[in-house]
Amino acid sequence: MKTIQAAVVGASGYSGEELVRLLLSHPQVELCAVTSRQYAGQTLAQIFPKFAHHPRAKTLHFSEPKAELLSRQAQVVFLALPHGVAAEFAVPLLQQGCQVIDLSADFRVKSAGVYKEFYAHDHPAPELLAQAVYGLPELYRAEIKTASLIASPGCYPTSILLPLIPLLRARLIDPAEIIADSLSGVSGAGRKAELDYLFVECNESVRPYGLPKHRHLSEIEQELSAAAGERLTIQFTPHLIPINRGILSTIYTVPTAPPVSPAAVEEAYRAAYQDEPFVRLLTGKALPDTKNVAGTNAIEIAWRLDPRTGRLILMSAIDNLVKGASGQAVQSLNILGGFPETTGLLGS
Ligand SMILES: NC(=O)c1ccc[n+]([C@@H]2O[C@H](COP(=O)([O-])OP(=O)(O)OC[C@H]3O[C@@H](n4cnc5c(N)ncnc54)[C@H](OP(=O)(O)O)[C@@H]3O)[C@@H](O)[C@H]2O)c1
Repeated sequence: MKTIQAAVVGASGYSGEELVRLLLSHPQVELCAVTSRQYAGQTLAQIFPKFAHHPRAKTLHFSEPKAELLSRQAQVVFLALPHGVAAEFAVPLLQQGCQVIDLSADFRVKSAGVYKEFYAHDHPAPELLAQAVYGLPELYRAEIKTASLIASPGCYPTSILLPLIPLLRARLIDPAEIIADSLSGVSGAGRKAELDYLFVECNESVRPYGLPKHRHLSEIEQELSAAAGERLTIQFTPHLIPINRGILSTIYTVPTAPPVSPAAVEEAYRAAYQDEPFVRLLTGKALPDTKNVAGTNAIEIAWRLDPRTGRLILMSAIDNLVKGASGQAVQSLNILGGFPETTGLLGS
């Protein structure tokens, strides 16, 4: 089988580090470049001692991020950069013939106007929006296969879209009555020194933030509207919780035709996900738990009907850095490369 030369731009950040972890042990990938402005010249092993046992980590040096050089080194380039910056790299890399898997929000929403509304600046490359494929393999596998620009979904969106979409498509829930509460670990904010994310500020504390109009709503509502076949809005409240990684989402919905049949819900999920390698539909008394997905590319999903309120409650757990970011991006790489989708993703 072929080997893909892959590069990670922004490899010193949390999702970049996770990409490095996955790609170093991926049997069809040679990690040929990792970039970081602050660590340029130092080896992977020096900056991330946890990788020091891997022979490649002793020889691979962080380089300055330069699109022209990267395009000569790599076929596939992962962008683990802040939004806005990612598009600046995507443009020249695509022009030079690379395939780009972007973990930022730059190419997730189809409308430059919506991007500006939520990200507060003009889209840096609106001409590329039409060709970008939303990199949620469970929904867009066929499109990912031939894409040159893949916009990997955000972490909250992944945890909210996968439980909701089969039920919206099956018309089992009211599109106008969706409320999502999500809890995220602190790595979701990236590896930067900011007062809000210092240990003492986060530890022993839980707080909501970013409401009522968190940026991720732009892609969440875009994809939910596509599934529902009508424009919808949802209520979404994210919370920061004192764990390193993990997202737990609880989503409150109202069935379209109460009392909804449990068999219909079960069937909608079964039909959508029975062959999905990374979607774990929980049965019996089991409920999603971030410790069961940490370090893995899995999403756990469960649901409960509340006979007192008539609501259908959906719950999911993912690792924000794996299924919510780097693992999902590697899943897309596997689709692009024609490899089994689980390649390099079954370890933890
Ligand atoms: N963290 C998550 O759970 C998560 C989940 C899904 C998606 N994402 C998205 O993935 C992207 C990366 O997130 P992250 O959490 O990994 O961020 P992070 O930890 O803050 O890392 C950002 C990386 O980008 C590099 N960088 C920053 N500004 C740059 C610039 N102007 N030019 C070149 N390189 C630059 C940094 O390296 P140097 O400063 O050393 O150059 C660093 O390697 C973001 O768009 C984020 O929204 C994150």
